[in-house]
Amino acid sequence: MKPTTAPRTYRVKSFGCQMNVYDGERMAEMLGERGILPAPEGEEADLVVLNTCHIRERAAEKVYSDIGRLVKAGAKEGKTPLIAVAGCVAQAEGDEIMARAPAVSMVVGPQAYHRLPAMIDKAVQGERNSDTDMPAIAKFAALPERRKSAPAAFLTVQEGCDKFCTYCVVPYTRGAEISRPFADLTLEARRLVEAGAREITLLGQNVSAWSGEDERGHGVGLAGLIRALAEVDGLARIRYTTSHPADMDDALIAAHGEVPKLMPYLHLPVQSGSDRVLKAMNRSHSADSYLRLLERFRAARPDLALSGDFIVGFPGETEAEFAETLALVDAVGYAQAYSFKYSPRPGTPAATMADQVGMDVMDERLQRLQAAINRDQHAFNRASEGRDCEVLVERKGKLPGQWLGKSPWLQSVWFEGDCAIGDLVRVHLAEAGPNSLRGVVRETVAA
Ligand code: 5AD
Ligand code: SF4
Repeated sequence: MKPTTAPRTYRVKSFGCQMNVYDGERMAEMLGERGILPAPEGEEADLVVLNTCHIRERAAEKVYSDIGRLVKAGAKEGKTPLIAVAGCVAQAEGDEIMARAPAVSMVVGPQAYHRLPAMIDKAVQGERNSDTDMPAIAKFAALPERRKSAPAAFLTVQEGCDKFCTYCVVPYTRGAEISRPFADLTLEARRLVEAGAREITLLGQNVSAWSGEDERGHGVGLAGLIRALAEVDGLARIRYTTSHPADMDDALIAAHGEVPKLMPYLHLPVQSGSDRVLKAMNRSHSADSYLRLLERFRAARPDLALSGDFIVGFPGETEAEFAETLALVDAVGYAQAYSFKYSPRPGTPAATMADQVGMDVMDERLQRLQAAINRDQHAFNRASEGRDCEVLVERKGKLPGQWLGKSPWLQSVWFEGDCAIGDLVRVHLAEAGPNSLRGVVRETVAA
């Protein structure tokens, strides 16, 4: 590669999960420290970071088409940007990207992005370079302090996964489970609040497996961390995602009943309602044990909104087994849920299992599942009609004077009124739609 001038502007494009959004923000902060500015809307950037996801579909193909588009746009302007491929595709397919895409000058894995500034220096010298090491804790220590935050912020507390569900790439792309230290997290949370956060969502691929030692040296789990964060002045709301049923302990269930700042919302993926399929997925729970677990959460917090993840068409899934998934959805009554067609991921055990399910069958099952989920989501929203609740104002709506925010149950609520982004507003939920509710302002709640 030819040496080039140091980049003055950047764009970070994040795909996939909220942890990628968090990583994207942290990369942007690092570039900002270096004096590199966000590229103005509609202008090509000197440096583009494609922060990729590998969880499903032809994610890698999307990366190559994005690279192609950047090269084309660059040719028009007479200058191709520096391109860095980050995230989980970088981790899983870094060497292939380097070989297949000469326009890419940097490949950086999700645990190594703190080294991006040094990599940019090399790339500017004309040296292509790649870093897919996994020093997760070192990464966090090397990142700059948080200085800017949206009202609803993310905070990665845990990364990686040791569960090895047979369909999933995460243990390979994000590595083994690690927990960030308690003191680092309380500090980062305080900084986020000083920088404008009113709500913090604690993130981890397996967030309920977080463990650490509090300031007195006592071993604590996620519930202990939540209780400590609830003491942070100015922080109004705490959420966490994503959890595995195997790591939900009594302390976490109790916290839902006892910590008012912990929002009444639980995202707990189940994937399937069939015990045969759950076993083949290596999920370590049954449909029944999942339902009983939810009952315990609901007993602690009766208004809890439930969310889940589902995969349809896992290898060997029969119509009868799929019907068990629909039955589980009926039994739970989700406030919302995510559902996906099974996608064979290279290197995972399920990818080579017999009886891969055809695309047309998966399409049809996904449609039926989504119809059931949408029905329940709408019902949940309708059941909220007439309630008053607090809404955290996150952005302006489409029309002047309109605002959008989230209810405690993570529903989107829009309303008209005199307020500002970051306000907590007491709202009457007047009218429910399938995906959002219309609210009427009662009053703005003090910080
Ligand atoms: N195919 C389809 N969906 C998947 N998920 C994870 N791996 C796959 C796969 N190979 C889904 C699961 C998980 C969510 C983040 O993505 O439902 O909970
Ligand atoms: Fe995608 Fe999983 Fe990586 Fe998140 S951790 S970006 S969902 S592959």
